[in-house]
Amino acid sequence: MSRFLQPPALKKLSFVTYSLVLILGVALLLSTFRSDKMLRPQVLTYTLQPSVGPATVQNQIAGTTVLKGQSAHLIGVIGSKALLVSAFLEHRTVPKKVLVIAIMFRKEKVSLLCNLLCSEQLLFSRASISIHQDHFGFPYGTADVYCPLSPNWQAPTHVAITLADVWNPDKTGLEFLEVQNQKVLNVFPYNFTSCFSAMYNYTNVLQLVQTVEMLQLLGVNRIVIYKTNCSIETQRVLDYYTDKGLVEVVPWSLSEYLKVSRRAKPSQDPGDIHYFGQIPALNDCLYRSMYRSKYVALHDPDELILPQMVDSWSELLPLLEKRYGANQCFIFENNFFPTEFTLPPPPPDVLPAWGLWRDVSGPNVLTHLYSEPAQPKPAFNNYKIITNPRSVFVVSVHGVLHSLHSCSWVDRMSARMYHTKTRGQTGLKVQQLIYDGRLLSYSGRLTAAVSTVLKETQLLPD
Ligand SMILES: *[C@@H]1O[C@H](CO)[C@@H](O)[C@H](O)[C@H]1NC(C)=O
Ligand SMILES: *[C@@H]1O[C@H](CO)[C@@H](O)[C@H](O)[C@H]1NC(C)=O
Ligand SMILES: *[C@@H]1O[C@H](CO)[C@@H](O)[C@H](O)[C@H]1NC(C)=O
Repeated sequence: MSRFLQPPALKKLSFVTYSLVLILGVALLLSTFRSDKMLRPQVLTYTLQPSVGPATVQNQIAGTTVLKGQSAHLIGVIGSKALLVSAFLEHRTVPKKVLVIAIMFRKEKVSLLCNLLCSEQLLFSRASISIHQDHFGFPYGTADVYCPLSPNWQAPTHVAITLADVWNPDKTGLEFLEVQNQKVLNVFPYNFTSCFSAMYNYTNVLQLVQTVEMLQLLGVNRIVIYKTNCSIETQRVLDYYTDKGLVEVVPWSLSEYLKVSRRAKPSQDPGDIHYFGQIPALNDCLYRSMYRSKYVALHDPDELILPQMVDSWSELLPLLEKRYGANQCFIFENNFFPTEFTLPPPPPDVLPAWGLWRDVSGPNVLTHLYSEPAQPKPAFNNYKIITNPRSVFVVSVHGVLHSLHSCSWVDRMSARMYHTKTRGQTGLKVQQLIYDGRLLSYSGRLTAAVSTVLKETQLLPD
């Protein structure tokens, strides 16, 4: 309760005097207040200046710009190394909170103040900071900056984060994030959202189109892509799907702020943060989709989770919920399909189309049907998940770190993941690989759909 602070009412004081006043104030607060009364804030009337917040705040409030892929606006905290990604109302905790997804220098010990804007009034609460355990040893990690809300406050629409011990009585120069997820919704525009978390130097146009078309056959109607950069051809495909309302591209330019590592461990490629800042992107996607999508799938464009007994995720998920319980997250076993090995000649009716695709960059996943033997489970990294986002608080690359329910490992005879990529030297011989033709049962529909998109994007002639 002592985290709700009184707003500044004092003139500029020397640091020592200020500290003394602060210590006394906190002590007073701690000793005196026991009831809800202490939560009643003194407020500061405040008008959001266009020059202060992100230029697009007004548009973002209208909602449409956000849906079209408004950038997660990275904001630095003045006087700290912290970077703020996005903010959401967290309805599931008591008291409610504003969650600010942040990237923090793990060794830096800071105390942060939430400046919450509700109907032109500024309210203050002291943030609690929780750095995710999955930082893989990099100096920066993803952090949840939580701003507790007093029960008698209105929900804030914007939040700015400042150092708690820096004196700024006029609150000048605050940079605000829009607080998303204002309302709890129980009906969702999308059934399944896939989150592709780190698109960097991306050129696999054919595989991307195949994956996106395949996901639609499975029942996916939203794909959020965190994009750093890609080839011109890939961009054409992204624009095409964005115009259709299927894809939401979130510009992900963390490399302008930090030295992002291109690998999963500092020993493989030293840098400030794990793999292009994939983890904050995934958490942003989870919260961004929370009241928009019934389920969220966290995987990459080279990964496809395929049901074995039914044809789509729409049919699979009710079966899994019946077997394992509702509101779970479901874990799907990874199987590598090395692109170094190719299918024996496919059925003749699909061959002409596949021949034309040869001019499009990237592997044709329909021709790589030999899998490496599955790794023993459970390993921390040999799976991906589909989850009800409203059951989950924190996600990582593989799975969930904090959730309301447990996760269930789906048996491979019900569904498993097909991960088609160049594997380099694995030492495996062709005799050790296992043929798995599940993808071919979609081949007719998939081939037609992919050819249509390649023609409509002028990557293939009509
Ligand atoms: C979501 O799934 C339901 C049940 O499978 C289906 O009736 C509905 O059309 C789907 N919604 C969208 C937007 O595809
Ligand atoms: C980008 O990808 C291309 C081909 O896929 C590769 O040759 C190149 O080294 C990559 N560049 C960077 C900066 O990763
Ligand atoms: C992506 O950015 C890197 C680094 O700036 C650059 O080397 C690479 O060529 C870019 N890739 C594409 C496909 O544009």
